[in-house]
Amino acid sequence: MVVDPAKLRIVLYPEPVLRQVAQPIAEVTDEVRAVAARMIELMHQAPGVGLAGPQVGLPWRLFVANPTGEPGDDRVYINPTLTTAGSNTAREEGCLSLPEVTVEVIRPEAATIRATNRDGEPFEDSAGDLLARIWQHEYDHLDGVLIIDKMSPIDRMANKRALRALEGA
Ligand code: NI
Repeated sequence: MVVDPAKLRIVLYPEPVLRQVAQPIAEVTDEVRAVAARMIELMHQAPGVGLAGPQVGLPWRLFVANPTGEPGDDRVYINPTLTTAGSNTAREEGCLSLPEVTVEVIRPEAATIRATNRDGEPFEDSAGDLLARIWQHEYDHLDGVLIIDKMSPIDRMANKRALRALEGA
């Protein structure tokens, strides 16, 4: 195993890996499954509702999500593709790689995701509201996009101090 899952930690902005375009996962191996399990653990510890590969330092097209925080509600999305639908809605978002930062992000209210699961099987799911938003936020991470890229001038002012602290750390 090239990656030691136990050593994975959540990386913070401005870690360069957060700006990389992540690469597709060629095969769902035991290593990928172990990384996904560790990401789920880190997501719950944080606690958060989603975590993407680049956020643990891996430029892999993989993210995990759990919209309710219930142990049985963990989801793994490998090599996802996303289509969005519905009207745009604004909602405050945070990010485990951007502590103390909140941004009002406008996104379509619904989405359909196609991905590979932990068993290497393709699946499709559709959702609205929180889960659709988590998918879009985590999918952005796979393309190196962060919520700070979507700040309004007001958000930029409100988050100035927190961003300076991160950039100076
Ligand atoms: Ni995030």
